[in-house]
Formats: sequence, structure tokens, C-alpha cells
Amino acid sequence: MSRKLKIMSIFGTRPEAIKMCPLVKELEGREEFESVVCVTAQHREMLDSVLSCFELSPDYDLDIMEKGQTIEGITSKVLEKLSPVLAEVKPDAVLVHGDTTTAFASALAAFYSQIPVGHVEAGLRTFDKYSPFPEEMNRCLIGRIADFHFSPTSANKENLLKESVGGKIFITGNTVIDAMKYTVNARPFTDKELQNTDFGKRVITITCHRRENYGEPMENIFRAIRALAERHGDALFIYPVHLSPVVRQCASKHLGDVSNIKLIEPLDAMDMHKLLSKSYMVMTDSGGLQEEAPALGKPVLVLRRETERPEAVRAGTVKLAGTDADTIIALAEELLLDSEKYDEMAHAVNPYGDGNASKRIADALAFSFGLSTAAPEEFRP
Ligand code: UD1
Ligand code: UDP
Repeated sequence: MSRKLKIMSIFGTRPEAIKMCPLVKELEGREEFESVVCVTAQHREMLDSVLSCFELSPDYDLDIMEKGQTIEGITSKVLEKLSPVLAEVKPDAVLVHGDTTTAFASALAAFYSQIPVGHVEAGLRTFDKYSPFPEEMNRCLIGRIADFHFSPTSANKENLLKESVGGKIFITGNTVIDAMKYTVNARPFTDKELQNTDFGKRVITITCHRRENYGEPMENIFRAIRALAERHGDALFIYPVHLSPVVRQCASKHLGDVSNIKLIEPLDAMDMHKLLSKSYMVMTDSGGLQEEAPALGKPVLVLRRETERPEAVRAGTVKLAGTDADTIIALAEELLLDSEKYDEMAHAVNPYGDGNASKRIADALAFSFGLSTAAPEEFRP
């Protein structure tokens, strides 16, 4: 083949990395593409852990993370540091993922350099600009900039059509399901705490980190989890705590001294996905976990006011619990005490993908740039 399409994938946080690594591997494995990877390192340790799971070394590392960083700081550093890299590499297109500040600032930097932008995981919306914050606005703004939108589901595509974003929209499935092919059964646990955990008990996996939950909502969530642990001594609550100092301080204040709550360090993606597969249920404000846990048949209570992932709610495996302590306790107890209610939620569904999203995205890029005449098949659950 005479011409290769130079695609620069840009990402910076743990969830972007987990969802972009399978796509980078797909691009690397195909002769139509020259793949270049630039990480902003908005996250440092949590990003490096994913890169090491997927055995991927970035070509460029902007190394921007600071302890207790602000969204303004992240935005300005990415804009400043990415532009010279774009000028040097001159990619045919850049790919950004999802709704982080890395993704928004990178899309903006590419726009300023007049480089086409592909948005992976496009079209998710809560329609509340402050929830999740700042992610909802980040993804709306990226949608306006992007030339290619890779939407996981048909509902995501509908959202983009209603906004008349322009550009080409492809329904691809979510690359997180591709990632799980690499992770869930890759190897035994490496984390010592998990190696010593009795999975004969009901294990409830917790994560909580969102900026809009900082302060009172997070305090309420942790009060609810503490009350649940105290009332259900036979269950084990495992919480790999995000490295954000705000989250760590709040978690250790409310949950640090309860014997059946294990506050552990962030897990690598392989341990985390294996933990999900062995859990009884999941309580989380994470986006990615709302896609992963249903694929494994694990009920999820979402500790947020809104979700941009209504597909799993409709399928019955995810429930919006909000941030009110009494509601969280009531919904969790339903799952702990009522086996019928539990069975209703605990079935595996995969509205988000079939493990071939990366291939569809690569096919769509080749098609859009005239390297192939075959349009990719749409993902249909
Ligand atoms: C970011 C994203 C959020 C995403 C989340 C995934 C934005 C505004 N937020 O939020 O959408 O859901 O990542 O986890 O883009 N830290 C470390 N080491 C790390 C990672 C983080 O020490 O490897 C600490 C640092 O003190 C850092 C803080 O965590 O300043 C917050 O990180 P930041 O990326 O700003 O926010 P997140 O809450 O992680
Ligand atoms: N995750 C992980 N280790 C952990 C906690 C989460 O690998 O200790 C994974 C999780 O399985 C999912 C992703 O990180 O793939 C979600 O990231 P996060 O909750 O930080 O961000 P969000 O999805 O909310 O943007």
C-alpha cells in the first residue's frame, strides 16, 4: 500500500486509556495505518498502570499531572504542550476519547491546527450541563469540533443528530467491551489484598470519584456505605480508592475504621475487571463501570443524579440511586435481602458492544479517508 493514514491517538486518564488501548492495538496491527500515541498524563500512576497492562509505550508524553490540579490548569497545559507535537507529527487525524478535560483540550488543539478530529465514545448525554461536571459540557463541545463521531449505541447517534453536530457518525459499540477481552481472564490477581480476599462472602465493589459529588453528596454516599457495612456484617465492601486527595480524605474519614470495608489502592485494569467478575454487586459513580458490570451480569447502583448510559437502565441491570443516603441504603438492601429483586438485575447484557468496536472504528477511518470502499457494519446489540 502506497499511503498510510497517520492517526494520532491522544488520551490522559485511566478510563480513556482502558478504552483507547484496544483501538491503538487495532491500528498498529493494520497496514493502512501509521499509529502515533500521545498521552497527556492528566493521570500519572493510574495511566501508567493501564499502559503496562496493555504493554503499550506512548510516542509522546506531555507529563502534565499535578497533585490537586484544576480543570483550568489541565486545559491550558494540554493546549500549550500539544500544539508543538501536532506541528511535528502532522497527523491525518487525531482521535480523542469521551469527556475528560484531556479529550476536550486535545480536540480544541487539533482544531486550532486544522487537523480532523475523531471522537471515540461520542454522543453520550445527560442533558444537564453541570452533571457530570465538567464532562457533559466537554463532550458537547467535542461533538461540535469532531469530524468523525464513533458512537457506541444508536441512542448516542440520535443525540448527535438532534444537535446537528455535522460530520460523519458511525455506530461502533464501545471499545470497553474490546478491552475486557484482554483483561477479565488474563491472569490471577496480583493485588495482595485481593489474593487474600474470601470470595465465598458477598463482595460489593465500590468506586466513587466524580467532581460533582465532592462535598456533601460524597459524604452522604459514604455514610450510606458505612451504614450498610455495619448492618450487613456478612458482606465485604471493597473500595479501590481513587488517588484524588479530595476523595481519599473523605473515604478515610468515613470508611477507614470499619472491619468489613477494605479501602485499597487503585487496581490495575486486569485485577479490577476480575474483581468485578467475582463481585455480588457494584456501587459506583463511575461511567465505565456502568458498561462493564452489566456485561458481567453484576447489578449496578449508580451513585449520581443522572446517567448518560440509559441503555443498561432500560435493560434492568443498572439503577440510578442518586446521592441521598436513605435511598442508597434502601436500594442496596433490596439487592442484599431480596433474592428475586437481585435475580431480576443480575443478568448479563451487552448493549454497549460485542468486542469489535475498535475494528469498526478503524474500518470507518479507512473508509472515510478513501483507503477502502467498504463502509463498516453498524453495531447492533
Ligand atoms: C478525571 C476526569 C474524569 C474521569 C476521571 C477518571 C476531568 C475533568 N475529569 O477526573 O472525567 O472520570 O479522571 O478517573 O477530566 N491523581 C494522582 N495520580 C493519578 C491520577 C490522579 O495522584 O494517577 C490525583 C492528583 O492529585 C490529581 C487528582 O488525582 O490532581 C485529580 O485528577 P484529575 O484528573 O484532575 O481528576 P479526576 O477526578 O481523576
Ligand atoms: N478501574 C480500574 N481500577 C480501579 C478502579 C477502576 O482499573 O481501581 C477501571 C474500571 O474498571 C473502568 C475505569 O477504570 O474501566 C473507570 O475509570 P474511572 O471510574 O476512574 O472513570 P470514569 O469511567 O468514571 O470516567
